[in-house]
Amino acid sequence: MSFQDELLKRTEEAERIIKQYLPEADGFCETLPEAMTYAMTAGGKRLRPVLMKAVFDMLGGKGSVIEPFMAGIEMIHTHSLIHDDLPAIDNDDYRRNRLTVHKVYGEAMGVLSGDALLNYAYETMLKAFDLTDRPELAVRSLRLIAEKTGMHGMLGGQSVDVQNDGRIKSPEMLDYIYRKKTSALLEASMEVGAVLAGAGDELIKEIGRAAGKVGMAFQIQDDILDVEGDEKVLGKPVHSDEKNHKFTYVTLQGIQGAKNEALRFSKEASAIMASMGQGSFVESLILYLTTREK
Ligand code: IPE
Ligand code: IPE
Ligand code: MG
Ligand code: MG
Ligand code: MG
Repeated sequence: MSFQDELLKRTEEAERIIKQYLPEADGFCETLPEAMTYAMTAGGKRLRPVLMKAVFDMLGGKGSVIEPFMAGIEMIHTHSLIHDDLPAIDNDDYRRNRLTVHKVYGEAMGVLSGDALLNYAYETMLKAFDLTDRPELAVRSLRLIAEKTGMHGMLGGQSVDVQNDGRIKSPEMLDYIYRKKTSALLEASMEVGAVLAGAGDELIKEIGRAAGKVGMAFQIQDDILDVEGDEKVLGKPVHSDEKNHKFTYVTLQGIQGAKNEALRFSKEASAIMASMGQGSFVESLILYLTTREK
């Protein structure tokens, strides 16, 4: 099967699994699950669940225990996007080719639906315990996700990022932000795929090292697309970083310098994956990400 066909098949699989775990209306509480579902079903590349499952398959993982984790990681990601777009953070009106949640449902629902999706992600992932006879692997996965997405990971990175809008960042601070706000969630995604497949500590660590580099390449490419992407293809506004006076890899190195860095990180990441068995889908996906247009 060609890489593109496999990517499509795996994205559709993630889509199908996410759909099974969407929240439902509960008495008077109708708007909140509607806003959560609006954000969750707007599309999106589904990169994190696709990577999670691809690593799981690559390492011989079996069974459905991975499914609630695939849905859960996409919920956490979507929560971060809803909040990232709020007027208090990046103040953006479009996401995934639709008006942002706060534009459609108001700011209060933007805050609440983001919070609720984060919580619902854990409600969802806890369902994994009904699907496995190795609960210790599910516990380890939950711990990993909690640590990598909270103040020591994604949210910590987002906070340092917004606090420094309008300021020149040192290269060290810039790397810190990207490692936390973007790499951490990708590390959680790929490491959980390995944990649930029953991989040993050394292998999990190597996968995490590759994922960290995938995240760097991914965020640098996102910065590049913010400058030279096509809004219709991207599904979100271009020049959001300029609007927010954000110092990025493009500001630091210029477009060409940023492209070189993205390629370097992505080649390093795919080389780590290749050392585990050449020609895997994960390896091709990592390389593909630096050529993406959205
Ligand atoms: C956007 O993530 C946020 C970043 C980390 C740059 P994606 O580019 O994966 O967004 P979706 O899920 O495809 O919408
Ligand atoms: C945000 O980075 C990464 C998150 C953790 C949400 P950006 O602010 O650059 O993401 P986009 O460009 O809005 O998707
Ligand atoms: Mg942002
Ligand atoms: Mg943003
Ligand atoms: Mg961006």
